[in-house]
Amino acid sequence: MTGVNALKLPAQESIHHNHRRTRDLYDRIIILKDMKAAKLGKDEVRQIYRKLAGSYDVWANLAESKARKRSLQLADIHDGDAVLEVAVGTGFTFAEILKLNPSGRSEGIDLTEEMLVRARKRAERTGVSGYTLKVGDAYRLEFPDDTFDVVLNNYMFDLIPEEDFLPVLTEFKRVLKSGGKLVLASMTQGQNWFNQIWEGLYQINPALLGGCRGVYLQPYLGSAGFKDICREYISQFMFPSEVLSAVKP
Ligand SMILES: C[S@@+](CC[C@H](N)C(=O)[O-])C[C@H]1O[C@@H](n2cnc3c(N)ncnc32)[C@H](O)[C@@H]1O
Repeated sequence: MTGVNALKLPAQESIHHNHRRTRDLYDRIIILKDMKAAKLGKDEVRQIYRKLAGSYDVWANLAESKARKRSLQLADIHDGDAVLEVAVGTGFTFAEILKLNPSGRSEGIDLTEEMLVRARKRAERTGVSGYTLKVGDAYRLEFPDDTFDVVLNNYMFDLIPEEDFLPVLTEFKRVLKSGGKLVLASMTQGQNWFNQIWEGLYQINPALLGGCRGVYLQPYLGSAGFKDICREYISQFMFPSEVLSAVKP
């Protein structure tokens, strides 16, 4: 590096850094302003996923598989861990958890029995035994405090009302051990005009999008008392997702 470059670099980095911070702040303000209210209650969500259970995998592969894969990487599961997946759906991630954690404790819950039926078949095919998959509600986890090393939750917060984000995150934190990791993937607000198509569909009829609208969870993780919060943005099939990881202090 020349002397001139050596002198310039910190300033350039600082400009770049400030620009990125301004952009992040701008994105955050726009997103928070635009976050749509959840239009469906818990019973309606259950009804929708009862009907969608048979076809959900097509969408799950087309638009969400990259974010789901990334959330699993960030979870950094080691064999022997105690892992909880909330809202397992048809069990894409849960089957991968079992492969990574064959001799650990793996628990999965979902609101909708019809989704769980598929998750159980997928879990069975891994050949791993000793896991639990049962009906349960993210709002009231039936586990003691400080139980899990990892809690995963994909594409559920985009279904629930914003005023429930903090209580549900607090519930996730309660069951995590100190030092335990939370990983979340959700639909978010798109960064390009073509990502907005999905918000438009949601406005016409939320059921067209399985009840999901774009959310921005990062500030809520801070409010719930998590540390080391990271956010990544992923667009697949023009469908915008955010993947967040955080640690319970
Ligand atoms: C969009 S699907 C995502 C499924 C799975 N996580 C995945 O990524 O493929 C949403 C799932 O969240 C479940 N769900 C919605 N509200 C829930 C709640 N309060 N507690 C547990 N599961 C819930 C639904 O039953 C459905 O299976």
